[in-house]
Amino acid sequence: MSEAERLISGPTLRRLLSLVKKHTGIYMEERKRELLLGRIRPRMKELCLPSAEAYIDYLENHKDEIQKFVNSVTTNETIFFRTPAIWDFFGGDFLKSWFQKNAGETLRIWSAAASTGEESASIGIMCEEFKRLNPRFHYRIYASDIDTDVLEGARRGVYKERSMEDLRKRSPDIFNRYFKGRDSADLQLHPSVMANIEFFQHNLHSRGTRTAFFDVVFLRNVLIYFNEPDQELVLKNMHASLKPQGVLIIGEAESLARLNTSFEYTKPLIYKRAV
Ligand SMILES: C[S@@+](CC[C@H](N)C(=O)[O-])C[C@H]1O[C@@H](n2cnc3c(N)ncnc32)[C@H](O)[C@@H]1O
Repeated sequence: MSEAERLISGPTLRRLLSLVKKHTGIYMEERKRELLLGRIRPRMKELCLPSAEAYIDYLENHKDEIQKFVNSVTTNETIFFRTPAIWDFFGGDFLKSWFQKNAGETLRIWSAAASTGEESASIGIMCEEFKRLNPRFHYRIYASDIDTDVLEGARRGVYKERSMEDLRKRSPDIFNRYFKGRDSADLQLHPSVMANIEFFQHNLHSRGTRTAFFDVVFLRNVLIYFNEPDQELVLKNMHASLKPQGVLIIGEAESLARLNTSFEYTKPLIYKRAV
């Protein structure tokens, strides 16, 4: 019997999985026992709780533990300019054609599972690059996540070195233009980009308050954590938040092909709000 099996029995595991689902919408299979134990263990230790059952009881009786539980079970892996093809599309065809049709307006972009902020910063850098050539271009980025710890990091505009490595190697000019700091562990995103990003907490399973508001939604590498009915629910919420003809960008391992949604396929990972 593994340590995880000893510490989390079948019924306890099922209770935990249903709490993960209830508070985050994330669907985890029973084989994720090991991972789940690794996620909640630091909280069990901090609270000096002897077992996973004791932690569940604590969670169910302390409302303020819920956010800490949510923060510990989410997976926040991200890097700058993840999946180059979508950045070629966004920084190229998309911005050009949007600006031609909407000069004088403000492009509104939602990074809807923003994690530690690399995605919203990448969007901001692309927009600033476009603005250098088109000074009358205006944009605003809205970056949200369910996890308050990652949002706190994202608000500081400071990132893990590992998430910037590729950008630093491939585009040193861009890197030097947008990151400043005393040493490599202290690099901060340029204030011109930060000033255009607004951070807020949001659970994708609830309907956003901004209806038909966004021109583009980045919903990347998060649908994979939800089951199909919930993916459809989240996509319905995104549909409501996007303007008609608004663009949805998803992650490399994701597809809407099998789902019942009101999005039209444009090209790999890119969809358009239909009607
Ligand atoms: C793997 S990261 C993806 C980050 C970024 N979009 C990217 O592609 O690099 C997934 C993020 O989704 C967030 N998340 C998970 N469930 C969520 C929910 N129900 N509502 C909002 N965000 C959620 C997690 O906290 C995590 O930061």
